[in-house]
Amino acid sequence: MTDLMASGHYPVMLDEAIEGLAIKADGAYIDATYGRGGHSQAILSRLGANGRLLAFDRDIEAVLDARQRMAGESRFDVVHSAFGQLSDIVNERGLLGKIDGLLCDLGVSSPQIDSTERGFSFRANGPLDMRMDQSRGMSAAQWLQTAAEEDIRQVLFDFGEERYARRIARAIFARREVSPLTTTAELRELVIKASPKKERHKDPATRCFQALRIQVNDELGEIRRLLEQALSVLAPAGRLVVISFHSLEDRIVKRFMRSHSRQIDDLPRDIPLTAQAMPSQLKLIGKARRASQRELEENPRSRSAILRVAERCPC
Ligand SMILES: C[S@@+](CC[C@H](N)C(=O)[O-])C[C@H]1O[C@@H](n2cnc3c(N)ncnc32)[C@H](O)[C@@H]1O
Repeated sequence: MTDLMASGHYPVMLDEAIEGLAIKADGAYIDATYGRGGHSQAILSRLGANGRLLAFDRDIEAVLDARQRMAGESRFDVVHSAFGQLSDIVNERGLLGKIDGLLCDLGVSSPQIDSTERGFSFRANGPLDMRMDQSRGMSAAQWLQTAAEEDIRQVLFDFGEERYARRIARAIFARREVSPLTTTAELRELVIKASPKKERHKDPATRCFQALRIQVNDELGEIRRLLEQALSVLAPAGRLVVISFHSLEDRIVKRFMRSHSRQIDDLPRDIPLTAQAMPSQLKLIGKARRASQRELEENPRSRSAILRVAERCPC
């Protein structure tokens, strides 16, 4: 058990992620989602003196943690940036096409969820913010105050699969005419009132909070940008490892990896193409993986994790 795990921080699917990265001691790696550095520390422990690790996080608190925790670690560098800026930042460091492995552990970190002030959780009352990067963009409260009713409905339906999206959007719209929604408790209460039937074992606000978080942070747009840029960032045989936490994320990752790994054998036989004419850019490494039974018991958050690995071609 690492120090981090002893302190209650549990990096999800750590062994599987490290195996997927196939770390070379003198390689260059990226942790696109530093969080509290659980995966970063494991990567560093496998690198030799010439290895390098570049970490990203769009949350300044995560970056401050990295600067403190990794102080004096010359093989490590951290940037306060969304990973959607991946290729610019890698290019500035002269590492384009030289990255041997890129890890992305999507979603929010435990400190973000646990901090009432950040507004990610409906379990405690706090300001309705939900931004991972509080230095830019609109908070959830600002977005709910200014978005069209139809856009709110669409977001709740698309990103939360919320069956009462229309009723909730209408209630939000009516409420904001009177006074703005500013706290997580106000929003939760509104959702409870607007939902005619409750699901067993699930807070009625769960889907709405997930949807708003995805919208406020443009989470799906960020994943698409990261994946497109990963191809130019990775070295030949470089590994791409992504851990997703819900089907909206995993669908994007799965489709991207599959579409860039299409083999000539997958095409109809009457299409006159040679393998050289249609080189695939990725090779899939194994199937999608889930957390082990032991990890599920130790860390319930790993329940919804899905890990996928692909390798940059020519391999
Ligand atoms: C699940 S946590 C990562 C935990 C980390 N692997 C660990 O072991 O501590 C996700 C982290 O990624 C960050 N993050 C999410 N989306 C991001 C993005 N588009 N760009 C940069 N960081 C992002 C969040 O701020 C959060 O700190």
